[in-house]
Amino acid sequence: MKKHLLKNKVHKLLRQYYKITQLEKKFIPGKHKVRYSGSFYGSEELIQMTDTMLGGWFGLGIKGDMLEKALSLYIGSNSTLLTNSGSSASLLCMASITSDLYSDRIEKGAEIITPACTFATTAAAIVHMGMTPVFTDIDLGTYNPNIQMIEEAITPITRAIFIPHTLGNPNEMEKIMKVAQKHKLLVIEDNCDALGSEYDGKKTGSFGILATCSFYPAHHITMAGEGGAVFINDPRLHRVILSFRNWGRGCWCTSLEKDRNGACRNRFNFKIDDIPIDHKYLFLTLGFNLKPVEIQAAMGLAQLHRFPTMASARRRNFAQLLRFFKTYENLFILPRSLPKANPCWFSFPLTIRDKVTFTRSQITQYLERHLIETRTVFAGNIVRQPALRRVKYKISNLLTNSDKVLKDTFFIGIGPHITYSHLQYIQETFDAFLSRHSRSN
Ligand SMILES: Cc1ncc(COP(=O)(O)O)c(C=O)c1O
Repeated sequence: MKKHLLKNKVHKLLRQYYKITQLEKKFIPGKHKVRYSGSFYGSEELIQMTDTMLGGWFGLGIKGDMLEKALSLYIGSNSTLLTNSGSSASLLCMASITSDLYSDRIEKGAEIITPACTFATTAAAIVHMGMTPVFTDIDLGTYNPNIQMIEEAITPITRAIFIPHTLGNPNEMEKIMKVAQKHKLLVIEDNCDALGSEYDGKKTGSFGILATCSFYPAHHITMAGEGGAVFINDPRLHRVILSFRNWGRGCWCTSLEKDRNGACRNRFNFKIDDIPIDHKYLFLTLGFNLKPVEIQAAMGLAQLHRFPTMASARRRNFAQLLRFFKTYENLFILPRSLPKANPCWFSFPLTIRDKVTFTRSQITQYLERHLIETRTVFAGNIVRQPALRRVKYKISNLLTNSDKVLKDTFFIGIGPHITYSHLQYIQETFDAFLSRHSRSN
């Protein structure tokens, strides 16, 4: 049989296989888990990944280039570089802004403002690159620092703000950018939870000089299990990040720019001390290898194509839960966003109010027993985590709200896998627990 006919057959089988798995997945309340998140894909993702495997090119290649271009277009960033995770993207951001390859580099030892309520690797990237994190508190409900908290943290040696849009909820970007401009600070957005979120009509991830994104399956889209990206808005940083990502190499042409044999056109035009050097082995910096592989890019392309419908499902589910939880506003601080924000929420966070008669352990254990998955907001207050014990850091103000998150906040899922029947079941299960406690509060 001809290759292309065989391929069509494989595609058909994949579609059939996918259909069967979907039938098996029909949600039965109380029997199946209500996952807090997880990969959500169709047969097109399976076809794209299979085609990549059959094509026999496994390292990052043309599909990687295509996804980088598509993401730049989607976010509105100057360029994009794919990585193997969001954590790697954070590391690359911090490595590049302190590198002597960057003319506006910040010195090692500088202070970087970032909230204490964060994901561990956001703070880790600052520390690993030899800078000092200065932790601010956050507001409850938005889970982001307000502008006063950020301003209070500025000292003469502050050089940057590394700001997560926590759980997809956009920060007050116009105020942050103004403060940053006034104090000559770089802004880097941690956009790992926030693909599709907007502030004042502009995508988050397009405000700072750099922004990160994660494609771990829990996030808005995935690249076959792991993945990430750096969105780059200062073109001078593109080659610096490329070099750090690719072993420290100085070779920067894309797969599309290479010749028919996949070779760099500038390969033999370089010298070190008059010795001709293969550009592939010209090292500009001491870098890392943080590349994803082509099969991940193939899935990412199909996921990005599907993303608009996935994003509207997230928004629909979030709105429904917000309506539902209004009845219980006496028990919980509900999530809220700023007037100019249009979040594409990662999840639905709830903070138990003070003096409520149940604890977080009681309600989350009850939910888990009823197969509704819960998670806490990452590190809570990171300075209380064992990992920070031997690390140099500063706190700019009391971390009262971050402590409250550590103790009393949890979230449930709102991803596109959550259907009307899941929402019904979530509401009934919460009602059964909370109706008892509403009366006693
Ligand atoms: C806000 C935030 N930043 C960074 C990361 C790290 O991303 P990854 O898991 O892809 O390394 C996460 C991960 O969940 C996150 O939620």
